[in-house]
Amino acid sequence: MQQQWSAVDKYMISSLIPGDEVLTRVLENNLRAGLPQHDVAANQGQLLALFVRMTQAKRILEIGTLGAYSSIWMARALPPDGKLITLEADPTHAQVARLNIGLAGLDDRIELREGPALRSLEDFGDIPPFDLIFIDADKPNNPGYLEWALHYSRPGTLIIGDNVVRDGEVINGQSDDARVQGVRRFIEMTGDNPRLTATALQTVGVKGWDGFTLAIVNG
Ligand SMILES: C[S@@+](CC[C@H](N)C(=O)[O-])C[C@H]1O[C@@H](n2cnc3c(N)ncnc32)[C@H](O)[C@@H]1O
Repeated sequence: MQQQWSAVDKYMISSLIPGDEVLTRVLENNLRAGLPQHDVAANQGQLLALFVRMTQAKRILEIGTLGAYSSIWMARALPPDGKLITLEADPTHAQVARLNIGLAGLDDRIELREGPALRSLEDFGDIPPFDLIFIDADKPNNPGYLEWALHYSRPGTLIIGDNVVRDGEVINGQSDDARVQGVRRFIEMTGDNPRLTATALQTVGVKGWDGFTLAIVNG
């Protein structure tokens, strides 16, 4: 199946998404620096960019930068006075991400904060709420990220949680994988919170079988 999922993704990407020299170079830089290939796929990057436009977001929070591939997709969809703050714990990833952000000419729109995300989130202090929050870092900490996401939200904020299906393992309540348990707790907290209206979708494609949650903060 994987071969077919990838072929369909490639067809959709080549039919719908214009080739982009900067994004190609970003992925090459990530590969050359030995970063794991955990960036979103191009059609998922475009989906994130569409979410930014659909919500008319001006302030975005991303938890989990890697080489800033998804950051660049989202930041490009912001208006000129928009801002994206992205959080990354790994110094090598952060270094490559800074290089890529510069390459994309987005130094003024993307702010990378290096360090464990939970600490960065605690340190934000009194800042305006975010319009869109993309949670894509270490899954065991997803419950904590959701709490902070709610803290820095306003009615209408869109919260996206990536990689919540994990080859279907999400339904295994007995899993001893802390990532699966983190995702399960995150989903339960999302479903139980009356402030949120949420759904989740499974995806297949070049990145295998996975999926994401979408939640909006109620008014
Ligand atoms: C799935 S990758 C992010 C992919 C990126 N959003 C993209 O699509 O291009 C997850 C990233 O989260 C980072 N990470 C893991 N644990 C973290 C933590 N506690 N705080 C901040 N970043 C963390 C990893 O180093 C990795 O770069």
